Amino acid sequence: MKAKSLFAHLFALLLLLPFSSGHAAESAKSVGEQLYTQHCAACHGTDGDGGVGIPLALTDFQASVSDNYLAKTIKLGRPGRIMPAFATFTDQEIAAIVKHIRGFSNVAYPKDNRTPIKGNPTLGKKVYEQNCASCHGQNGEGGSGTGVTFSRPRHLPIIAPALNNSGFQAAISDEMIKHTLMKGRKGTPMTSFLKNGLNEKDLDNVVAYIRQFKQQEQTLTAEDLAPTLTYESPYGLQETIDSIKRAVLGKNFRLIRVQTFDDGYVAKDKQQANKSIIYFCNFEFLNRALNIDPRVGMFLPCRITVVESKGKVLVMAINPLRLSRLFNNNELDKACIEMRDLYIEILEEATL
Ligand code: HEC
Ligand code: HEC
Repeated sequence: MKAKSLFAHLFALLLLLPFSSGHAAESAKSVGEQLYTQHCAACHGTDGDGGVGIPLALTDFQASVSDNYLAKTIKLGRPGRIMPAFATFTDQEIAAIVKHIRGFSNVAYPKDNRTPIKGNPTLGKKVYEQNCASCHGQNGEGGSGTGVTFSRPRHLPIIAPALNNSGFQAAISDEMIKHTLMKGRKGTPMTSFLKNGLNEKDLDNVVAYIRQFKQQEQTLTAEDLAPTLTYESPYGLQETIDSIKRAVLGKNFRLIRVQTFDDGYVAKDKQQANKSIIYFCNFEFLNRALNIDPRVGMFLPCRITVVESKGKVLVMAINPLRLSRLFNNNELDKACIEMRDLYIEILEEATL
């Protein structure tokens, strides 16, 4: 009895061990680490070494930014530049994340200094066009692609951030811009411009010029952002499917497969709804979209759903433009508008 209970006790301990140690590790994680792991690590790397998002662990980066800059960046995000806004996080949660980020690199960092820097934006424009526009874009719209994934150009390991971005402009101080220009960021394509032959006056002027950047307004309507594109077909189910196949091939797509639910899914009201999905693809377009943002892979290949219900045949596609908004990526909009227009042409042609 005694031996048995000892055995049982040991057995229970053995069973519990992995769980309890796992549990201990879990609770040892700070709130900041947990939040960072859950919401940031996928893009910025577990140790802040970068990914789709730019690195946060670099010494020069940390030494140039205040806690307030980090907090504001988290809260506001960078609209249209992939970096999401974490608007619902409390100030305490954001402070915990900032503390965790500071742990990546234990360097001294500045207090927030919002003293404006006086400069001449007209002279700054010249400096900007000669020294900055090649990476940060003519209007400060930032570099193309998504960080260190396969869309990254090899000679530019880190994508230049957008400087005309409302989130960036609200978070950054003049002092921090100037500091970044003076020191550069070792380990990135952003070099020190004092070393590159500009003087402090030039830098003040370029700061003044950057402050004048305006982000281009989004001009998407509610209709642009409808979740699905839906058309009613005047034909029967099979006829509609054939008609879509023809339209798809006519637009130079390759048909992948048609998936049918012929076995009859019976709805609660006993009415039979028939549903088919037509999968198709265009490799040139697919490659282009993946290069802009690899996350679109989740929604490829292209597909159109045909549903017969209550004597009606409906054809539907997900609105690609709605997807690019979910990804918070302005660059993707152009490809998605193109894709949406193609879907509409196919759907209209098939239901004509
Ligand atoms: C060779 C490309 C390149 C050039 C040229 C360049 N930058 Fe950068 N810049 C970058 C990259 C890449 C980063 C991001 C560095 C990082 O990962 O922290 C950056 C970061 C910055 C930042 C900080 C932005 C932020 O969100 O952290 C500012 C401000 C900036 N650059 C301004 C300028 C200005 C002004 C010039 C011209 C005087 C210039 N850059 C020239 C590539 C460049
Ligand atoms: C879906 C990917 C993604 C997620 C998730 C994400 N970021 Fe970002 N983040 C980015 C990208 C991309 C940029 C650069 C924006 C640009 O290119 O203009 C960025 C920029 C930043 C910057 C500015 C860096 C600089 O050099 O000034 C900070 C700080 C930052 N992110 C922190 C965070 C934190 C903290 C989280 C989690 C709470 C987070 N990000 C979640 C993609 C992401």
